[in-house]
Amino acid sequence: MTEALGTDPSTATAADREALLALDAEHLWHPWSPTRVNPDTVVAVAGQGCEVEDADGRRYLDAKSSGFNATLGYGCREVVDAVGAQLSRLMTYDLGEGSTAPAVRLARRIAELADPPLTRTFFCNSGSEGVEAAIRIVRFYHAALGRPERSTVVSLRGAYHGSTLGAAACAPAPSPVSDEVGPPGFASVPGPEGDGGPEGVAPLRAHLEAHGDRTAAVLIEPVQARGVRVLPDDYLRAVRELCDRHGVLLVLDEVTTGFGRTGEMFGHQHSGVRPDVLVTGKGLTAGYMSLAAVTTTEHVFGVFDRNKARAGFVHGHTHSGHAAACAAGLAVLDVLEERRLVSNARERGAQLLAELEGARSATSVLDVRGRGLLVAVEMDDPRRASAVRRAMREAGVLARRTGASIVLAPPLIVTAAETERISTALTTAVRS
Ligand SMILES: Cc1ncc(COP(=O)(O)O)c(C=O)c1O
Repeated sequence: MTEALGTDPSTATAADREALLALDAEHLWHPWSPTRVNPDTVVAVAGQGCEVEDADGRRYLDAKSSGFNATLGYGCREVVDAVGAQLSRLMTYDLGEGSTAPAVRLARRIAELADPPLTRTFFCNSGSEGVEAAIRIVRFYHAALGRPERSTVVSLRGAYHGSTLGAAACAPAPSPVSDEVGPPGFASVPGPEGDGGPEGVAPLRAHLEAHGDRTAAVLIEPVQARGVRVLPDDYLRAVRELCDRHGVLLVLDEVTTGFGRTGEMFGHQHSGVRPDVLVTGKGLTAGYMSLAAVTTTEHVFGVFDRNKARAGFVHGHTHSGHAAACAAGLAVLDVLEERRLVSNARERGAQLLAELEGARSATSVLDVRGRGLLVAVEMDDPRRASAVRRAMREAGVLARRTGASIVLAPPLIVTAAETERISTALTTAVRS
């Protein structure tokens, strides 16, 4: 068998790549599809900055930050060192029973970055788990207040909130698995069209007028990660008002948009809206460890605290607030601040959108949209989008395809020159 497994990637060859793919086809069950072995598969062996290296030695500019999570790019020394130091000192300690300095400090740090009154953070391991915890928090909250019938979570069609049972039920996907029997207590309504307008919120308003007294929370993403739909700021403000009117909690899923991706620390800060519960993940540890956070207000937390006997919070994970993952989060937030990466996301995002304007002249391009470094170019046909993605890969740039859209979400460290490389690869591909 190949020597490529675990060897120095600088000596890797195309044969190593083929050997790894053969083993992959035999043993690995990939997310989203049973196998991922095709000529386009990147067998990543190393990365530095915005570039990732395939087992055959080819380097690519990763314009999708792995899975939108590698916000600091690859090989960020500060984070690697912080994680290594924490692993040597104390890799983890069960927060269900005790406490650790990295978990306490990171919870404090998130409270400083989020708008008041978001002060309390529950840690888990993935965005899906974060959404799952949020679902249980909003249900326990209403139950503790003596209204257990308020249990439905309402979300928007076309959203994505994760793939565990509850998170997936929030946004039933148009896929074969949507036929599976989902859990009860979820509803979805159409989101706003285009720029929203005053009537964009009408479906949600109608739903809450009819079912508000059975609704626990509205759950939405400020920018829908799937296909990059930016919810207009006015829409978010109208949702907040409706939630207040109907005594419903507002949960914002910022697993993709949190920690700088949209050019603000959190996506909702463009609108000034404040959620009752904020779910973050991906960018919190920038891919260096697995961690997600559910941050809520003292009011929500207080309901649990005062009603321990009735509500409690019977929820947790062995790795809730894993110490080395929290150390990664602290280092990531330092790097974000020191290198002013949230501003960079804003500036490079504006550059990317401006440069992609040229792509609109191609007849196959229906729309170019985005916020910060989360951008989509929507094509007229998923097959054409696949061809564009393949052509970009040939040009050394990796993008994601979702339906008929090419989605770009490069690391927040991306430079002006790299941004231009991405937009040139895409505009060239759509014109050819
Ligand atoms: C908005 C949103 N919510 C939740 C999730 C689920 O996160 P994870 O894949 O870490 O479970 C994602 C992941 O893509 C996401 O984009």
